[in-house]
Amino acid sequence: MKVTVVGAGAVGASCAEYIAIKNFASEVVILDIKEGYAEGKAMDLMQTASLNGFDTKITGTTNDYSKTAGSDIAVITSGIPRKPGMTREELIGINAGIVKTVSSNLIEHSPNVTLIVVSNPMDTMTYLVHKTTGLPKHKIIGMGGALDSARFKYRLAEALDAPISDIDGMVIGGHSDTGMVPLSSQATRNSISVSEFISDDRLQQVVEDTKVGGATLTKLLGTSAWYAPGAAVSSMVQAIACDQKKMFPCSTLLEGEYGLNDICIGVPVILGKDGIEKIVDIPLSEAEKAKMQESAVGVSKTNGLLEV
Ligand code: 2OP
Repeated sequence: MKVTVVGAGAVGASCAEYIAIKNFASEVVILDIKEGYAEGKAMDLMQTASLNGFDTKITGTTNDYSKTAGSDIAVITSGIPRKPGMTREELIGINAGIVKTVSSNLIEHSPNVTLIVVSNPMDTMTYLVHKTTGLPKHKIIGMGGALDSARFKYRLAEALDAPISDIDGMVIGGHSDTGMVPLSSQATRNSISVSEFISDDRLQQVVEDTKVGGATLTKLLGTSAWYAPGAAVSSMVQAIACDQKKMFPCSTLLEGEYGLNDICIGVPVILGKDGIEKIVDIPLSEAEKAKMQESAVGVSKTNGLLEV
C-alpha cells in the first residue's frame, strides 16, 4: 500500500504522521514544491519511527511526481490555507489552478489512484477534479464531513460533560461555515438522543460552534487547523487501504441522491478498497432537507466561479 501526500504543510505532515503511526501503509511519499521541505519533514518523521513504533517508510520529494508512481491513494492538501477572517471560498482563485495541476500529475504516474481532496474550498475542488481528470467518481473523495463530525462530537461531549467515546453524531452538507448540516436530531449518547441531556438552546449552540469549528481555530492559530484534519484524512485512508467498509460523510458527486445532481457535497458513504463503495441515502427531516438544499446552493455558487 503506497500513499502519496501532496503538500508538506501542517495538514499534509500531520496526515503522513497519523498514517505512519497507524502502521497500515508500507510507504508514504510526501511531495511539496518548496525545495527540500518534504524531504525534511519525511526525515524528521522517520526519526520518530523507532520511538513511535512504526515500520512505514516515509520519503519526501521536491515536486518529482515520478517518485509517487504506483500510489494506491493520494491526498491533495496543497494550496494556500485561510487566514483569520477569510472564508474557505475566498481561496478558490489560487487553489483551483494548483489542484488541477496536482491531480493531473498524480494520475499521470498512478492511473489507478484514489484521490482524497483536502484543499479548500474542498467541495468545489472535489468537483473540479471530477470535471478535469476523468477518474471514476468512486475514486474521487472530498474530506470534510469526517472532520466536521469529529468537531461536532467534541462540542457535544463538552456540552453533555461526557466522554467523546459515548457520543455519536454526523455532519453532512458543504464544508463551509454556513453550509454544514450537523444532524443534531440524530446525535446520540450511547444510543439515547442527546436532546435528553441538554436543552434545545444548548444543542443549537453546539450546532453553531461546530459550523465555525475551522474558523474558530484559524482565529486562534493564525492559520487553519492541522491535527484534526490530518487525523480525519488518515482514518479515511485507513478505511480504504484496509477495506474497512466504514461510513464517513464525504464529499462525492451526487447523481440524484438527496435530490441533488451535478454537485460534490458531503453525504454519508461507505469507504472500502474501491474508494466510495456506496452512497448512503438516509432519510432527512423536512428541516434538514431544506438546510441541505440551501447548502447545495452555496456550493453550486462557488462551483460557478470555476473556469472548466
Ligand atoms: C478545516 O476546517 C482545513 O478546512 C479545514 O480546518
